[in-house]
Amino acid sequence: MSQDTPSSTATVPSASAQPAGQQGHQGDAFANLLHETRTFPPSPEFAADAVVTAAEYGEANADRPAFWAKKARELLTWSKDFTQALDWSNPPFAKWFVGGELNAAYNALDRHVEAGNGDRVAIYFEGEPGDTRTYTYAQLTEEVKKAANAFESLGVAKGDRVAVYLPMIPEAVITLLACARIGAVHSVVFGGFSAEALRSRIDDAEAKLVVTADGTYRRGKPSPLKAAVDDALAHDGHTVQNVVVVKRNGQDVDWTEGRDHWWADTVDTAPAEHTAVGHDAEHPLYILYTSGTTGKPKGILHTTGGYLTQTAYTHKAVFDLHPETDVYWCTADVGWVTGHSYVAYAPLLNGATQVMYEGTPDSPHQGRWWEIVEKYKVSILYTAPTAIRTFMKWGAEIPAKYDLSSLRVLGSVGEPINPEAWMWYRKVIGGDKAPIVDTWWQTETGAQMIAPLPGVTATKPGSAQVPLPGIAVDVVDEMGESVPNGHGGFLVIREPWPSMLRGIWGDPERFKDTYWSRFESMYFAGDGAKKDEDGDIWLLGRVDDVMNVSGHRLSTTEIESALVSHPSVAEAAVVGATDETTGQAVVAFVILRGDAVNNGDATVQELRNHVGKEIGPIAKPKNILVVPELPKTRSGKIMRRLLKDVAEGRDPGDATTLSDPTIMQQIAASLRK
Ligand code: WTA
Repeated sequence: MSQDTPSSTATVPSASAQPAGQQGHQGDAFANLLHETRTFPPSPEFAADAVVTAAEYGEANADRPAFWAKKARELLTWSKDFTQALDWSNPPFAKWFVGGELNAAYNALDRHVEAGNGDRVAIYFEGEPGDTRTYTYAQLTEEVKKAANAFESLGVAKGDRVAVYLPMIPEAVITLLACARIGAVHSVVFGGFSAEALRSRIDDAEAKLVVTADGTYRRGKPSPLKAAVDDALAHDGHTVQNVVVVKRNGQDVDWTEGRDHWWADTVDTAPAEHTAVGHDAEHPLYILYTSGTTGKPKGILHTTGGYLTQTAYTHKAVFDLHPETDVYWCTADVGWVTGHSYVAYAPLLNGATQVMYEGTPDSPHQGRWWEIVEKYKVSILYTAPTAIRTFMKWGAEIPAKYDLSSLRVLGSVGEPINPEAWMWYRKVIGGDKAPIVDTWWQTETGAQMIAPLPGVTATKPGSAQVPLPGIAVDVVDEMGESVPNGHGGFLVIREPWPSMLRGIWGDPERFKDTYWSRFESMYFAGDGAKKDEDGDIWLLGRVDDVMNVSGHRLSTTEIESALVSHPSVAEAAVVGATDETTGQAVVAFVILRGDAVNNGDATVQELRNHVGKEIGPIAKPKNILVVPELPKTRSGKIMRRLLKDVAEGRDPGDATTLSDPTIMQQIAASLRK
């Protein structure tokens, strides 16, 4: 085999997909793709006991709205039945379950108590300092009723917006459900965001109430929250009338008499009876701000009936949830959509028992998560690839110290999971038996859209694989034509789905422009994807992260994956840097594993050759920079924009949204060495 022949067996003919707005040749866009031949079918025992079978696909394909209508009635309790599953007469504005009425909090709580499951544990809470609390369904119901009464006594009514700026403590879930009970619209702002970010979100949604805490703990140290609320409200003309403050870490706070109220004085003292009334299926449930490629953050709007239906269904089907016996743990913060759909809503709708953890994975030691899994006998774990790669970096000997045998389903979300991390997750965490479900979805989709079904699908390392029953996903070329197997293009959604965003708060035109204008009658997700020879879907990262090198289209994800498959590499981030000759050049930033020796140029050459071997010479990074850390947002996403600045020799721009703002300095220092 010549030097220039990729060793990968997959040679995919040219795909015509180009990222929007990008000029260039129609190269061998997806010509060199990692070829994955390993598959892991469910064990016969797992399949035999699975909640969902392959029959669901056929049933859903026969009539999608009817399938979802059936799920809506099976999984939820409606105070008024709906008359029509889907009204799509004014696309892209969908109405699901027309005429129906239901209460989200009643569905998450009261009905389980009425059904005799009040003593079942809803939440095992584990604070970072080691304090614990347990809430049964009966207790959680009572807390939510009190909070609903308290918020109403502060003037919050149906339709009002409530901003929530809380750490991962049970009061966060209680607050969300109390809002939903009243029909108030919650707008959670992640506790790691700045006062300025909080201010703009409070103003955009015109929030009436803010719920916060004095602070939380991060890596053993108190970390303030209330101070940012005070700063966010320091200007005239805001709409906030009251602030409710949970006492969490006991740190000193400034106090505005008349505006600020301790949770203990308002919620704990409120009456424990509160009647949940039904709200229209399309009544707004929440707003969650998310950043687009440009412009100010968009307030993604979700409504009630469809959102609850799809979150509940996917949680049950994708995690094979057996609520009587499973212990579920989603590590996402409630500040992100995963913490909304798969912490605050779906697990409770399904009557599950879940773990909630406040802190960081390395507090007070790097085995904290695995200690929690062992302690609560967690059976379903849902986390992000970035966490998995961090654990890989720390070493397999850490989880090996704990009994992880309770784990039977492992979930992944948020970014493409490279096959290497997937295999490590399966072997080291899942004991080589727990199926991995890689779930693709977005803030905008509200719930999972593409994922294997663990009792049905033979899973494949690195691929999210198949649209869920009732979901019409496709990969299209730039003309919007479906690509054949073996080709790549743009990920689109062809049919409305129950938990789809209903719009951008206050900006219907932006909703149309952002998602529905790129392709006729299709939702454009902003992700690149390919279909492999089996028709399974591989996510290739945001199309804005796709590079064009000498007319060849390369995925950052794919090259990262290749780098991480080298035994010396713990983590890698790849950017396309502007290059006079080739248009863009591949620049890689890598963190070496703890035990790897950095031999300078020799290591770099070895890694370049490795990428050449895995994908093809075209993908060989022009530069590989060995760095101590990578810049990540507080939600764990690598900020490639900053790396691109470094790669193109500019001073990195604004780094204030990083989880650790000093990382760019560390990188600069390591490159000067
Ligand atoms: C990416 C998180 C590959 C994708 C739920 C999407 C993924 C964006 C996956 C949404 C996955 C999410 N494989 N990529 N399993 N899951 N993404 O809104 O680029 O924070 O468009 O929602 O994350 O991020 P968001």
